[in-house]
Amino acid sequence: MRAIVITSSGDPEVLQSAERPIPEIKSEEVLIKVAAAGINRPDIIQREGRYPAPPGVSADIPGLEVAGVVEQVGADEKKWKPGDRVCALLAGGGYAEYVTVPGVQCLPVPEGLSFEEAASLPETFFTVWTNVFDRGRFVSGESFLVHGGTSGIGVAAIQMVKALGGRVYATAGTDEKCAFAEKLGAVKCVNYKKEDFAEVIKALEPKGVDVILDMIGGDYTPKNVGLLATEGRLLIINAMGGANSPIDLMRVMVKRLTITGSTLRVRETTFKGAIAANLEKHIWPLLDAGRIMPVVYQTFPLASAAEAHKLVESSEHIGKVVLTISA
Ligand SMILES: NC(=O)c1ccc[n+]([C@@H]2O[C@H](COP(=O)([O-])OP(=O)(O)OC[C@H]3O[C@@H](n4cnc5c(N)ncnc54)[C@H](OP(=O)(O)O)[C@@H]3O)[C@@H](O)[C@H]2O)c1
Repeated sequence: MRAIVITSSGDPEVLQSAERPIPEIKSEEVLIKVAAAGINRPDIIQREGRYPAPPGVSADIPGLEVAGVVEQVGADEKKWKPGDRVCALLAGGGYAEYVTVPGVQCLPVPEGLSFEEAASLPETFFTVWTNVFDRGRFVSGESFLVHGGTSGIGVAAIQMVKALGGRVYATAGTDEKCAFAEKLGAVKCVNYKKEDFAEVIKALEPKGVDVILDMIGGDYTPKNVGLLATEGRLLIINAMGGANSPIDLMRVMVKRLTITGSTLRVRETTFKGAIAANLEKHIWPLLDAGRIMPVVYQTFPLASAAEAHKLVESSEHIGKVVLTISA
């Protein structure tokens, strides 16, 4: 099969086409003929050599999500059959014509969506669910802030939290991005290059924000801690602005805050399967009904993966960038 491999750590040009054997399925897995693969910021970080694949996962083929058609199922796989249209969360290996994945990490392609649109969903929807709803204990009626409001994560978080009853705030780096985040459902998106997000949002939510999903860290952390409401929860999923932050521990105690974080890729199959079950129950009906929409900014053929990475690195995009692999 054709695949894109990371030939060495470095710039986008290290992504090269290669021939690889079609992977063999284990008993609880399905083999997917991949139609499209989503690109995520963690793929860039892996390519740069700062986010190695977990043990047992294709070390040099990146790709954390795909959509396509089930070609073969393992002996113990009961839910899926050959011909089913699925999208799936992977731990790697998605930039390829075929991939294997535990059946519990697959979800049906939502009604009316193309493979490109479906491939843009798993990594961000699983990440938002496990952080905001499970770890962050978000409940309807609460307020919520997501930084990077037009990132792949941001467009998923805004729509999921809004649909499940939240008052959503966001930050982004241009007025155009902010307007898009507000169209998606944010009450207010703050252009952090022009205004202090904490001051603007505090004026709108005087008691503070209940849940914050943060990928920036660095000097955002003290501001996030200051902005959280009593019993607020801060979920950290990356530290693009720096991994070291000063925290006022008195505020943590007085407001009884929870500061936590997670990475999804290394988690075990049963954990990912439980998230898939929650998404299928609570979020997939909203996708089927068109109340939550995928946001695909641009697609590229598989062979142009390097160009696609350059676009994601530029941060010009809104939503997701997707590779098209087969019809
Ligand atoms: N922990 C996990 O399990 C997990 C899983 C998936 C993703 N993530 C993380 O979640 C974040 C979003 O992922 P994604 O794939 O949705 O990313 P993405 O679409 O590439 O978006 C990242 C956005 O972050 C904003 N940004 C702000 N400060 C930045 C900085 N210093 N460097 C680069 N971008 C900056 C940019 O928008 P502006 O123009 O608005 O600044 C950019 O568009 C990434 O950091 C990723 O590593 C974590």
